Amino acid sequence: MRRFTVTDFCHQFISSHISEGSFCIDATAGNGHDTEFLCRLTGDSGKVLAFDIQEQAVTSTRKRLDAHQLSHIGQVIPDSHAHLDQYAAADSVDCIMFNFGYLPGGDHAMATRPDTSLTAIKKSLNCLKPGGLLCLCIYSGGDTGYAERDTILPYIKGLDPREYLVIISSYANRPGDPPIPAFIFKQVR
Ligand SMILES: C[S@@+](CC[C@H](N)C(=O)[O-])C[C@H]1O[C@@H](n2cnc3c(N)ncnc32)[C@H](O)[C@@H]1O
Repeated sequence: MRRFTVTDFCHQFISSHISEGSFCIDATAGNGHDTEFLCRLTGDSGKVLAFDIQEQAVTSTRKRLDAHQLSHIGQVIPDSHAHLDQYAAADSVDCIMFNFGYLPGGDHAMATRPDTSLTAIKKSLNCLKPGGLLCLCIYSGGDTGYAERDTILPYIKGLDPREYLVIISSYANRPGDPPIPAFIFKQVR
């Protein structure tokens, strides 16, 4: 048995809410693990868009989808998640996932940034269907610092509870700066 990770936790949470035929977005494609997961979840009748600004990540995710015969479900878009509203209509997406930070083995200078991340989160909330789920895995410390965490957390904590349900989880016994998984449901009106 292998170690349980924050990604496993996010995947389990998403799996219990998202079903076949869904429209999902991986806002930070990286090496394509989350894109692959979303493609398997949505199945042949679903659709997944995956964004990344780093060529290495775009290539890696495309290769992964090809290798697993998932390219008919997932489309990799070499653009910033700050533009995701140009690819998805308001109230149209079932699930949007962000795994912030830098690409493991990639360029740390191309890590996600507080300003573009916040723009993308705001646009994601608008693109979610009522009942849809936004999943954020927030990292801090190390060479990415705390600015992104300290931009995102106050914003999501301040969302109107009539419009959104916000759940923020925490590692209770891990020292340092453990990842922070957060889940936001757009409420059905
Ligand atoms: C932690 S990695 C994502 C891991 C990935 N989900 C996986 O399964 O392998 C973060 C990724 O965000 C990407 N990124 C940084 N800024 C971005 C932006 N503005 N729009 C889209 N992707 C961005 C980085 O290039 C990097 O590949």
